[in-house]
Amino acid sequence: AAALVAAALSGCSGAQEAPVVDTVGQVDFDNRLAVPPLDRGTLAPDGVREFDLVADEGTTEFRPGISTRTWGFDGSYLGPTLAATVGDRVRVRVDNQLATATTVHWHGMHLPAEMDGGPHQMIEPGRTWTPSWRVDQEPTTLWYHPHPHGETEEHVEMGLAGMFLLEPAEPDRSGLPHEYGVDDVPVVVQDKNFGPDGAISLDTRGFVGSLGDQVLVNGTHSPYLDVTTERVRLRLLNGSSARTYRFTFDDRRTFDLVGTDGGLLEAPHPTAQVQLSPGERAEIVVRLQPGERPVLRSEAPDLGMPAVLAEMNGGADRLDVLQLRAADRLAPSPRPARQLADIPRIDPGSASQRRRFDMDGLQINGRSMQMHTVDEVVEVDTVEIWEVRNQMQFAHSFHVHDVQFQVLDVDGQAPPPELAGWKDTIYTRPGVLYRIIMRFEDYTDPDTPYMYHCHFLAHEDAGMMGQFIVVEDASSAPDRLPESEHG
Ligand code: C2O
Ligand code: CU
Ligand code: CU
Repeated sequence: AAALVAAALSGCSGAQEAPVVDTVGQVDFDNRLAVPPLDRGTLAPDGVREFDLVADEGTTEFRPGISTRTWGFDGSYLGPTLAATVGDRVRVRVDNQLATATTVHWHGMHLPAEMDGGPHQMIEPGRTWTPSWRVDQEPTTLWYHPHPHGETEEHVEMGLAGMFLLEPAEPDRSGLPHEYGVDDVPVVVQDKNFGPDGAISLDTRGFVGSLGDQVLVNGTHSPYLDVTTERVRLRLLNGSSARTYRFTFDDRRTFDLVGTDGGLLEAPHPTAQVQLSPGERAEIVVRLQPGERPVLRSEAPDLGMPAVLAEMNGGADRLDVLQLRAADRLAPSPRPARQLADIPRIDPGSASQRRRFDMDGLQINGRSMQMHTVDEVVEVDTVEIWEVRNQMQFAHSFHVHDVQFQVLDVDGQAPPPELAGWKDTIYTRPGVLYRIIMRFEDYTDPDTPYMYHCHFLAHEDAGMMGQFIVVEDASSAPDRLPESEHG
């Protein structure tokens, strides 16, 4: 197969190195990478930046001659890249033209629980939902996707997802490439299974959920990206439901890791690999020489478990993802600034609450998601430390709505660079204790919860999720949610 040939020819494949497992069929990088349209919305008379999203069904030809029924926002598959500036007030009109109810969740966004788009903000077919909030957090790469309880995997796999860029309000001194679609490129990576008729299939393989044998980037199968500048910033999003990727280049080149889920790192971190479990993002800056054609691929991720188990958890395959094609002449790019951001460390001594989250089987703390149960009550304007542990030899992750957190330590050790910045989702290696710290601010609502959950979508759908409310005074908070709110 083409991938085998490519591996053999690429010079870097020493004799001891196994060939790329050709689980992706013919990958010959013959399709130009689609770049979702950038949507900055429009400024309404009241100064609010307004966006429109229409969720609808469509048809997509991922491979020539095979048409697939898909769902998308403002198109047949995926959605536009929304962009707002930190400090903006935004409003989104989400129009559901699907035949089924859905939601749109703003993953990583700090906002009121009612605007969060979780399982309590269902949008019935034919209805429009119009959340609004003020963007008040670090510039970063967020994303949006449906969150209907029990159906998130299906809705995301059908194509409902998009990026949401938060741009800096101050003049950007990071030196990072920022021309969208030119040297600043979204890379939404999703694996997928297609049935013989071309239909998206959710046939579950292994423990984590649906693992696809085809890789799509921004909905493009077998993609290449033309690069015209010396440096290119890739905003990597693992938009898959179950697969974890360990991104690296076929020639083992190093690149700069410059950002994680919730913001830029303090300084560029030179590395040859970055691992992302479902829902996580990383921004990397890759330097190219004229004419080069490095291939971004995923090697078997390190899931922290024996190989036999890793296989069931999506950890065995090596997949080609995206070929970069540097032009013969490259426009100069500045080098990233030595200091990208200031990340004030949250003082563990300021924490007023410590909670444990044990993930065991498909439950958290021995419970499954119940729509009317308040699992945790958080007091606003406090700092909390959450101790997260995955108790079994299976892959799980932990995601918290409303906040960006810091990883205090991993089994007592300082977090590695990829966990040292702002995060909203982390992979949790079996048996390892992750202590995360966060501050809950601004928004309270005793009637509407935020979620925390495993972001392997089949696990989330199976109930590996809990609810917390943020209130003024925890002592008088309810432990049930009013029935009226949620039908
Ligand atoms: Cu990306 Cu609760 O979700
Ligand atoms: Cu989220
Ligand atoms: Cu899980």
